[in-house]
Amino acid sequence: MIWRVEHFEEIDSTNSWLAGEAKDGAPEGTVAYADFQSAGRGRLDRKWVSPPGSALLCSILLRPSLGASELYLAVAAVALSARAALVRLSGVRPSLKWPNDLLVGEQKLAGLLGEIVQSTAGLAVVVGIGINLSDAGPDGVRATSVLDESGVTIAPRALLDILLEEVEFRRALLETAEGRESLRQEYERALVTLGQSVRIELVNAVRSGIARGVDASGQLMVDVDGTTMSFNAGDVIHLRSSEEASRD
Ligand code: BTN
Repeated sequence: MIWRVEHFEEIDSTNSWLAGEAKDGAPEGTVAYADFQSAGRGRLDRKWVSPPGSALLCSILLRPSLGASELYLAVAAVALSARAALVRLSGVRPSLKWPNDLLVGEQKLAGLLGEIVQSTAGLAVVVGIGINLSDAGPDGVRATSVLDESGVTIAPRALLDILLEEVEFRRALLETAEGRESLRQEYERALVTLGQSVRIELVNAVRSGIARGVDASGQLMVDVDGTTMSFNAGDVIHLRSSEEASRD
């Protein structure tokens, strides 16, 4: 993989910038990273705010030969790569909350935003990731940083380099059925969500059940009253443990 890394001191959102490049046919391996985002975006139309220089804020363009419904596997591949990179550089081993939050205990260390882009060069996925390095951001007690967890200071660029090494390895796995199966298994091992009672808020309905696993395309399989139902990150508006829901 040839990585083409663009650095911005300030930008609105690395995901927005890279999605524009992807539409214009930018090659796989194009990467944007920024010291500061003035309009960083999270999932579910949330904002993603980090003080300048305190986080790795980057987006990676991938063009795996997968169907649209399987492209979320590419997002999981980047989440797992981020986890592996963090273990290597800081010893912190976050778990994943489905679909792709990186948590330490109950606190969020990083979040991912995967966006599918239709382009002249075919389907692409822009995977954005924000990893709190020296500041947990404005989310207070619900978030943490690598510095808080390990006392280790990591420069964003150093983490990006290791992240890209890990992504290169998992990107290759996406090309074969065996590779995707090994990714699926790594994903299941990393997910704290499995075995938990979850409440899934869809646009028009709410479902509760026990999360049991992820299927071959990365969808969450949930036991709902004895029937296994699959949900993808696009369908799911909000996933909460039943405990969290009962605190409302
Ligand atoms: C979430 O947890 O809701 C996802 C957060 C994703 C944030 C990253 S920061 C780099 C990239 N650019 C964005 O605007 N968002 C992602």
